[in-house]
Amino acid sequence: MDFGCDSSRIFRFFLLLIFFPIICQPQIPAEQDGFWFGKRQGPEESIHVEAFFDPVCPDSRDSWPDLKKVVQYYGSRVTLVVHTFPLPYHDNSFASSRALHIVNKLNATATYNLLEAFFDHQERFYGASTFNMSRASVVDDIVMFVTDELGASFLSAIKSGFTDSKTDHATRVAFKYGCLRGVYGTPFFFINGFPVPDAGSPLNYKKWREIIDPLVTN
Ligand SMILES: *[C@@H]1O[C@H](CO)[C@@H](O)[C@H](O)[C@H]1NC(C)=O
Ligand SMILES: *[C@@H]1O[C@H](CO)[C@@H](O)[C@H](O)[C@H]1NC(C)=O
Repeated sequence: MDFGCDSSRIFRFFLLLIFFPIICQPQIPAEQDGFWFGKRQGPEESIHVEAFFDPVCPDSRDSWPDLKKVVQYYGSRVTLVVHTFPLPYHDNSFASSRALHIVNKLNATATYNLLEAFFDHQERFYGASTFNMSRASVVDDIVMFVTDELGASFLSAIKSGFTDSKTDHATRVAFKYGCLRGVYGTPFFFINGFPVPDAGSPLNYKKWREIIDPLVTN
């Protein structure tokens, strides 16, 4: 038996060790990811909330009304950014997340309307409801859905958004950003960069107030 040292294999191993982190380092995007709710930046002392949502996730849907209410309650004292985080076990999650990135480029103020529309009608895009549909017809269906939300004049722009590699890239960047932050489910929240305890289950209005009130008064 030959237990001799295979120097070329070891060399390749070390080469991998040296270059692996470089290869895996995602390219730094030119823009920050996320959809700002209202004003882009609040006062310096404002509390910053980040929410990672999957547009076809029922728990994301259920958490949104109370989060929206709490952010509106605090006004300029709280800022909110939503990031898309398409979960692999939701079949149409990436395409519906991409729709949000497409719309954000076409009319940024309509992004949250579309997010709410997805939340209101997400059953239509669940894996089970689209099980017999081709990918192309699901995308067509999403295009029609988004067009209903934005207006008929946007049809061709929305359609071509789905073949534009930039919107694909933006949706990937959002996902990678979530991975870098340690997001592993949705909804997932951060306050001032720190993960909110109890993430993964819907936080109600009362709970949000309990968490944010002491931060605001300090
Ligand atoms: C953009 O979206 C907002 C909110 O839905 C709407 O009020 C506005 O008219 C839209 N702008 C255009 C150019 O369609
Ligand atoms: C998909 O198609 C098969 C065969 O036509 C049918 O038996 C099944 O019920 C369909 N499933 C759904 C979710 O529509």
